[in-house]
Amino acid sequence: MKGVILAGGSGTRLHPLTKITNKHLLPLYNKPVIFHAVEKLVSAGIDKIMLVASPQYIEDFVSVLGSGSNWKSRNTSDKQVQIVYGIQNEPTGIADGLWIAKDFIGVDSVVLHLGDNIIFEDLEKHVQNFKSGAKIFVKRVRDPERFGVATIDESGRVIEIIEKPKTPVSDLAVTGIYIYDNSVFDRMIGMPKSERGEYEITWVNNQFIDTGDLEAVHITGDWFDVGTFESLLTASLYVKEKHDSEQKGS
Ligand code: TTP
Repeated sequence: MKGVILAGGSGTRLHPLTKITNKHLLPLYNKPVIFHAVEKLVSAGIDKIMLVASPQYIEDFVSVLGSGSNWKSRNTSDKQVQIVYGIQNEPTGIADGLWIAKDFIGVDSVVLHLGDNIIFEDLEKHVQNFKSGAKIFVKRVRDPERFGVATIDESGRVIEIIEKPKTPVSDLAVTGIYIYDNSVFDRMIGMPKSERGEYEITWVNNQFIDTGDLEAVHITGDWFDVGTFESLLTASLYVKEKHDSEQKGS
């Protein structure tokens, strides 16, 4: 299993902060936001990661993450993590960001982690148990109309995902972490752009729904998408609290 972290996008909701730097390089209390996704994948046993970013910021990511050798692989104690870089010229969507990693993924499966998503859920068992098809991670929320929302049957199969529904039929928001088997790239052939001009990950997920191959995992741990001032601040305070209590406990 390989990992892909997306750190492109425009970050318009965080203007003017994102006129100075990329959203994923802003501080989440004591570390840049992007560290969270890297550490999440490494702790799940993934040691080959592609980070996708725009040409403007790629060097900043290289400065802060380097080759990945600061992290140790969970699989082999003497092996280091390897981070390579992919360039997304224009922010033309999450599915486009995944497509950029196609050659890097080769014949493997992939965990796709949106760089602005912060989840407090152990991914290791989900990565280890993954066999085929695709998995999304869903979280019960109070305001489903703000998210992509999934309807799920008793066995955990996803029946439908609706983007920002006006009258939600489910309160399960789709988070920014996905696992795909290698068929994802074949399924993406012929993918159209949406009305807003992006290659949408929901379109990709719908291909797996069509064949009954999209499974949903409920996450119970906390989840933040740090795309707004409010959520960036809330997530930073949450991380500070966690950090302080770990310091006290040690
Ligand atoms: P979004 O929050 O949907 O978009 P954005 O980051 O451009 O922010 P805004 O809506 O405020 O303009 O992006 C979700 C995640 O996906 C985020 O981590 C950035 C990443 N992303 C890419 O890497 N490439 C893309 O083309 C897009 C649209 C998003």
